[in-house]
Amino acid sequence: MTHAEPVIKITGLATRFGQHIIHENINLTVLKGEVLALIGGSGSGKTTLMRQMLGLITPAQGSVEVLGATRYNCGHEEERKLRIRSGVLFQQGALFSALTVFDNIALPMRELHTLRETIIRDLVMLKLSMVGVEAQHVHKRPSELSGGMIKRVALARSLALDPELLFLDEPTAGLDPALSESFVELIRSLREELGLTIIMVTHDLDTLVAISDRVAVLADRHIVALGPIPEIITIDHPFITAFFGGTRGRNALRVLQPS
Ligand SMILES: Nc1ncnc2c1ncn2[C@@H]1O[C@H](COP(=O)(O)OP(=O)(O)OP(=O)(O)O)[C@@H](O)[C@H]1O
Ligand SMILES: [Mg+2]
Repeated sequence: MTHAEPVIKITGLATRFGQHIIHENINLTVLKGEVLALIGGSGSGKTTLMRQMLGLITPAQGSVEVLGATRYNCGHEEERKLRIRSGVLFQQGALFSALTVFDNIALPMRELHTLRETIIRDLVMLKLSMVGVEAQHVHKRPSELSGGMIKRVALARSLALDPELLFLDEPTAGLDPALSESFVELIRSLREELGLTIIMVTHDLDTLVAISDRVAVLADRHIVALGPIPEIITIDHPFITAFFGGTRGRNALRVLQPS
């Protein structure tokens, strides 16, 4: 696969919450069509960085360019367009608990105020079939769904507006290995079919190995490594050694080795 165009370009980004410095001089480019995974210890600032790419938090310093527009000072209309072009599966609170499956997925469509209800209905059903959720579940609320089903519905909602960029924060957290594998398979096939660029945060080695093209490692407030997994694992950094080391790491990485 050839990756040409950058779709996200982060330059000199710094983040502070009060006295607490989270990021310093972060430089990172996401290329069109790739799956870029972001890894790092808990609290290293992965979700925060993702929220900055989404325009939900303004960094203390630096710039974030998304799809050719500069976030935070591109104007209201441009910002709205960028939001429509990005889908997101949040780490927490994937769905609104008071809304049915149908209404959860319809919500971003209704917020556009341009689509008629009959069209919305067809689109919701289409998105549900894309993620493998049967029509019989549309009137259920999230509390009546299994964990795996909630993830699928949340994924359907993130795809509601046909985004070019998909942000996934711990997409497989809380799923058992079999469900996690089928969810990863789903993400992989959607990415192929829809030509998505995916930015994914994950702690899960199997998920990482299964779908990432490149990995960015966030540690000590910086991106300490960036590249495909075989390159990353050769880098001598305590977080990387701990993350990929041990039996768990060796097992997950086995699939990368030609047998
Ligand atoms: N809105 C906020 N106000 C103050 N501090 C915040 C805010 N958001 C995040 N933080 C702090 O910034 C740091 C990074 O948080 P973040 O959620 O980005 O970490 P993370 O790498 O996603 O962690 P995890 O793997 O546990 O999800 C943490 O110390 C967190 O407490
Ligand atoms: Mg997080």
